[in-house]
Amino acid sequence: MRVLVTGGAGFIGSHIVSALGSLGHQPIVLDALLPSAHPVPPPPPPEAEWIQADVRDRTALSGALRGVDAVCHQAAMVGLGKDFADAPDYVSCNDLGTSVLLAAMAEAEVRDLVLAGSMVVYGEGRYDCPRHGRVAPGPRTVADLDAGRFEPGCPSCGAELAPGPIGEDAAADPRNVYAATKLAQEHLAAAWARATGGRAVSLRYHNVYGPGMPRDTPYAGVASFFRSSLARGESPRVFEDGGQRRDFVHVRDVASANALALSAVRIREPGVLSAFNTGSGEPHTVGEMARELAAAHGGPEPVVTGEYRLGDVRHITASSARLRAELGWRPSVGFAEGMAEFAAAGQRAAAVL
Ligand SMILES: NC(=O)c1ccc[n+]([C@@H]2O[C@H](COP(=O)([O-])OP(=O)(O)OC[C@H]3O[C@@H](n4cnc5c(N)ncnc54)[C@H](O)[C@@H]3O)[C@@H](O)[C@H]2O)c1
Ligand SMILES: [Zn+2]
Repeated sequence: MRVLVTGGAGFIGSHIVSALGSLGHQPIVLDALLPSAHPVPPPPPPEAEWIQADVRDRTALSGALRGVDAVCHQAAMVGLGKDFADAPDYVSCNDLGTSVLLAAMAEAEVRDLVLAGSMVVYGEGRYDCPRHGRVAPGPRTVADLDAGRFEPGCPSCGAELAPGPIGEDAAADPRNVYAATKLAQEHLAAAWARATGGRAVSLRYHNVYGPGMPRDTPYAGVASFFRSSLARGESPRVFEDGGQRRDFVHVRDVASANALALSAVRIREPGVLSAFNTGSGEPHTVGEMARELAAAHGGPEPVVTGEYRLGDVRHITASSARLRAELGWRPSVGFAEGMAEFAAAGQRAAAVL
């Protein structure tokens, strides 16, 4: 299968390219090498054709799509960014970019798409109140966060809530610009599928970590901040009280989910986008992750700072049962094993911002 991997020079994209190559597929990488993601351009991957272009460049895409069977769309600006002034860049890269890609796919009659989705579309995870059952707490207030009240309470009675894994049918509730752009990508892909008879799968990744993860920038994830601190000989700084629950999924498992989805998408119902949560199924707190990584690195110990970021959510963990049941995916890298490897592995050079 000839697969166009947009963002194929990135952290996740490069692992997808390796996975596709080792399965005997032909990956073609299209990547703009955004300076915020790549201050030092990476060498072209040996197992792929290589096109340096932006997904917003319709002419480049038309050429890149020639003879392609399926598209694996990873290109995006990621993370929370520096401040709201980044919003137009996020929307342009992620949503204008996706629409240009989909228009070019429509024209080239490429009908199969696997999209890098994200858990951020859900906002907070699933919560149950002992009196009110399933509830959806809104964004946490600055007053609560300043006072160190990090757990969202029941919107009706204020009671403490039990967090749980969210399913794909939960309502979307994006809480920041990046999340809004990831949700819009899915809506655009669903509209494209309906209009063209295309088939689309969105893999809603949880917190992906592993070798090749970028060093800390405002565009990176929490595992990358901690790993970078440890590399400088500093303690990982854990925000809030460290009790935020996440699912840390290894990048090779995410790459294998993409390879499976690319094979499965062609036999799915035309005209539809299906979403699959992609997580390890083993939730851990951010504090646990910091301790595991610090221990594997040989110190220093993490510090819990009580700081917070307004766009962050408290707990978000997913059920990946659908991906396991329908595509037969099995994550293979355990938490302790993956963190030990990540503690020893190199990170990608950071952008100078
Ligand atoms: N890392 C995570 O934990 C995580 C979680 C959920 C979803 N995702 C999604 O996974 C995908 C890959 O993320 P990543 O962590 O590998 O990030 P990354 O920054 O390492 O990779 C993204 C790549 O896309 C390229 N790119 C960005 N905008 C582009 C454009 N307009 N045209 C062409 N190329 C462009 C960049 O140069 C980069 O190589 C993204 O869509 C992201 O939203 C990542
Ligand atoms: Zn209640």
